[in-house]
Amino acid sequence: MTVAVVTGGGHGIGRALCRRLAADNVRVVVVDLDDQAARTVADEVGGVARTIDVGDEVAIKALVEEIESDVGPIDLFVSNAGVAFGDGAAGAVSAEGGLNPIDDRWETCWRVNVMAHVFAARSVIPHMLERGRGRLVNIASAAGLLSQIGDAAYSTTKHAAVGFAESLAIDYGDRGIQVSVVCPQAVATRMIGIEDDSESMDGGFGGNDIDGIMTADEVADIIVTESQAGKFLILTHPQVATYVGRKADDHDRWIGGMQRFRAKLKG
Ligand SMILES: NC(=O)c1ccc[n+]([C@@H]2O[C@H](COP(=O)([O-])OP(=O)(O)OC[C@H]3O[C@@H](n4cnc5c(N)ncnc54)[C@H](O)[C@@H]3O)[C@@H](O)[C@H]2O)c1
Repeated sequence: MTVAVVTGGGHGIGRALCRRLAADNVRVVVVDLDDQAARTVADEVGGVARTIDVGDEVAIKALVEEIESDVGPIDLFVSNAGVAFGDGAAGAVSAEGGLNPIDDRWETCWRVNVMAHVFAARSVIPHMLERGRGRLVNIASAAGLLSQIGDAAYSTTKHAAVGFAESLAIDYGDRGIQVSVVCPQAVATRMIGIEDDSESMDGGFGGNDIDGIMTADEVADIIVTESQAGKFLILTHPQVATYVGRKADDHDRWIGGMQRFRAKLKG
């Protein structure tokens, strides 16, 4: 049976990925900081739950070794857990406000949005290379190609996550390792203020007119299908390709457009 590890599997996109993979008969390891959520999802999908902080390299390494020996060879590792805090009152230069009030939000974003991907790859790729096959799916964001207005730490670290996935694909593609990086725009999850299982896509932090918001289930379906097909860059929201094209065509013009958009959002 294929074994997949999904970090941040207790809620949102991660939870939808666990369900989608289990429906394909994959044995899923649901990893989350939220112990109860991980157990609930694992029970539902017939998988196993593990509670760790993905930003802790020792914990990730121990997890990978334990799964490899006790559950089975890891065929797919999905680095999905991520955090966003928004800029503080000082805007892009704000410091405090990470997981704990006194944490530096930048530090937390680097650890969870970037270094967790590095720690996972460092731990699992040696095993995959021995077998000559394996897949990594790293969830970044459209903010990693464009920008998230009002969240400099999120935008910057998601760009770094895209860069790291590119390096992985370039370095290991000829040795059987297939890498995908996923850059969604808005998805109806707790990250944007919409509770799991909410019937409504409205009322999140972006109000009820978020550009092309999708459900976690829709996004998970695209991620699984396109990563299985061997796609590197997965744009779950097709409009992102248009925006990226405009940015590449004229970066200065794009900045001007974003400045006007920010002013509009600020009212
Ligand atoms: N929701 C969106 O609009 C959106 C858009 C683009 C990208 N993304 C990305 O998708 C991924 C999933 O986000 P989501 O929207 O499902 O959010 P979510 O908040 O619903 O789920 C995130 C999950 O990650 C877990 N988590 C957070 N920090 C962790 C840590 N240090 N160790 C282990 N688990 C941890 C949380 O407990 C939670 O279960 C994130 O990387 C996010 O940046 C989300």
